[in-house]
Amino acid sequence: MSEQNPILSSSLQSIEAYQQAIAQSSEAVVQWLKQPEMYQGKSVAELRERIRLDFNPQGLGNQAAIERAVEYFLKDSLSVHHPQCVAHLHCPSLVVSQAAEVLINATNQSMDSWDQSPSATLIEMKLIEWLRNLVGYGAGDAGVFTSGGTQSNLMGLMLARDAFFARQGHSVQQDGLVGNLRKMKVFCSEHAHFSVQKNMALLGLGYQSVTLVKTDRFARMDVGDLAQKLEQAKANGEQVMAIVATAGTTDAGAIDPLRDIARLAAENNIWVHVDAAWGGALLLSEQYRDYLDGIELVDSITLDFHKQFFQTISCGAFLLKEARHYELMRYQAAYLNSEFDEEQGVPNLVSKSLQTTRRFDALKLWMGLEALGQKQYATIIDHGVSLAQDVAHYIHEQPALELVMQPQLASVLFRYRPAEWPPEKNADVALLNQKTGDALLESGRANVGVTEHGGVTCLKLTLLNPTVTLEDIKILLALVEKTARQVLNP
Ligand SMILES: Cc1ncc(COP(=O)(O)O)c(C=O)c1O
Repeated sequence: MSEQNPILSSSLQSIEAYQQAIAQSSEAVVQWLKQPEMYQGKSVAELRERIRLDFNPQGLGNQAAIERAVEYFLKDSLSVHHPQCVAHLHCPSLVVSQAAEVLINATNQSMDSWDQSPSATLIEMKLIEWLRNLVGYGAGDAGVFTSGGTQSNLMGLMLARDAFFARQGHSVQQDGLVGNLRKMKVFCSEHAHFSVQKNMALLGLGYQSVTLVKTDRFARMDVGDLAQKLEQAKANGEQVMAIVATAGTTDAGAIDPLRDIARLAAENNIWVHVDAAWGGALLLSEQYRDYLDGIELVDSITLDFHKQFFQTISCGAFLLKEARHYELMRYQAAYLNSEFDEEQGVPNLVSKSLQTTRRFDALKLWMGLEALGQKQYATIIDHGVSLAQDVAHYIHEQPALELVMQPQLASVLFRYRPAEWPPEKNADVALLNQKTGDALLESGRANVGVTEHGGVTCLKLTLLNPTVTLEDIKILLALVEKTARQVLNP
């Protein structure tokens, strides 16, 4: 039975309990890190059976709770740092990000108001100023840390929607949506992230409001098609409230032509939001920063640090070019961001966020930049992009592997395809690749993505991990081939 005071506080007994709990947990992490397997390979049914919810009404105490978490959670977690764990935009994390989590968690500051997070509020604001500078925005602090790309995209689309209505003298915030809503459109490429659709549904305009623009052979938005669709929209009496450009599509890593899109949008007085959840990492790159040419021209930007900035989940940001647009979501709560406080210049970040209570995730990026410096950050980001190019070259030389698209960021799309199979067997090839991906995860040896690109079911390597080498990937590809052969001849 647990009899200890469970609260973290200044008492000696609490401090001792804290130290013990943290030491026990970090020791468990060390043992887990030493495990050679990527995953224990348990099936859904096995894990469902194993994980028992049987809380003891008397409580077990910290030590036993940690032991049980090791059994139920840690042992069967996926090793995201493993060289063969390359399915998703799911990064291994920086050691310093772990240290930041200790500080964030123990202090439990909340970013909504100054009186809940004084130093944290200023650190976040200074980091936003720094990020704006990196992007090429004017001086200022319009922007905020978010839970990730989905929320940042929601903020961009919401402010675009409300700015659109405001231009017509209407406040969505006060009066809700009015007019012929079926005529309101958002344009994005056919490879944009699905959160555009989900967010438009949330914003009351539905999936029907999303018009997909064609892409070129590198999965980048086709600006000719965009121009044509804008003309068509005008002819149909439709109104385009935003264009969402993507800097780093989830699978292909494609970066839309930001400058051209911004130019077209400016000619038509349309808000541009850039979803740079993945490609935003190139802001720190030494070799590839120019891929983001034109990003400084757009109205709002999504950045995600729990992707190729190697921060623990969650950690994202939203940047807004013109601070005045924050007025569109202004809400003053007497207990958090009163007028009195504002007049005194007290920064209460709740005014800039969709969230109220909010974690101090900014500290992770701050400490990452402090610890690594921009130079090392650039090196580990560029590593993934360069490695993807080398892997593509290698795949090209393998008779049974087929490159589905030339890499642009750190992902490689390819498939296993027996050289002798004729084109009529494409459906079988798709199934074979799906089954190969599934079998790899089930074996616990590798996590390779399975996705679809241009109607082709393929495998995906997302090469974020800066410790992974071409040799590691050659081993992985040999395993992919072997597994595919086993799927064919069980
Ligand atoms: C391009 C892009 N945008 C947005 C998101 C959503 O980001 P999050 O998962 O942080 O909400 C993702 C996720 O992979 C993404 O790839």
